[in-house]
Amino acid sequence: MTNILELKNIKKNYVTSAGRLPVLKDVNVGFKAGETIALVGQSGSGKSTFLHIAGLLDKPSGGQVLVEGAPTAKMKDAALARLRNQTFGFVYQQHHLLKEFTVLENVLLPAQFAGRASSVKNLARAEELLAKVGLENRMAHLPGQLSGGEQQRVALARALMNKPKLLLADEPTGNLDASTAGQVTDLLFKLAEDEGLALLLVTHSEKLAAKCGRKLSLIDGVLS
Ligand SMILES: Nc1ncnc2c1ncn2[C@@H]1O[C@H](COP(=O)(O)OP(=O)(O)O)[C@@H](O)[C@H]1O
Ligand SMILES: [Mg+2]
Repeated sequence: MTNILELKNIKKNYVTSAGRLPVLKDVNVGFKAGETIALVGQSGSGKSTFLHIAGLLDKPSGGQVLVEGAPTAKMKDAALARLRNQTFGFVYQQHHLLKEFTVLENVLLPAQFAGRASSVKNLARAEELLAKVGLENRMAHLPGQLSGGEQQRVALARALMNKPKLLLADEPTGNLDASTAGQVTDLLFKLAEDEGLALLLVTHSEKLAAKCGRKLSLIDGVLS
């Protein structure tokens, strides 16, 4: 079976006024459909850098990123944006909801970018996802009228709108208190299973990492 995503010999250096900072040294890893993977590592070890490259939001300094076997290095920005929009869902520590849009409108945004806005099917999909995250009664609310945990549940629904194959989650519960974080995490795993999508979860929590099928550690720029 072809990997959904494969990173081959990935290197990433940041060039700063203080010199060249090597963050990823020679990363090789593949992700299969439906698997759950935890990525752990100290703060500053390059986890977000790795996720940005894996999600085609940033380019590596060397090596290849393949999506369903297809090399991405030579793709134009528009093609990369399309691929990202169709293949990946993203959730971050901050919810990044648009504050002037309602909950429902926020969830519909990825479909809008894909040029499939406001169809009956999209509306049904958005409503289905909001029901799955328990916010069917909050669809007309603005993000500022929700709690932190509720906002993150909306972000989760939005990430799943286009039926991605892989959800990239960067410390998605890092801003929440322990009990709310637990609820959001349970939901994350349940949705991944329901929707049959793979989950790559960056986390500081060993407990959370233990819930994943596979655990990757990033130490000194090397993934193992
Ligand atoms: N745009 C950038 N320019 C220069 N250095 C950066 C940039 N982004 C991240 N870094 C540095 O790269 C290292 C890895 O950062 P990051 O990937 O954010 O780590 P993590 O997510 O594991 O905390 C850190 O030392 C950070 O300061
Ligand atoms: Mg980070």
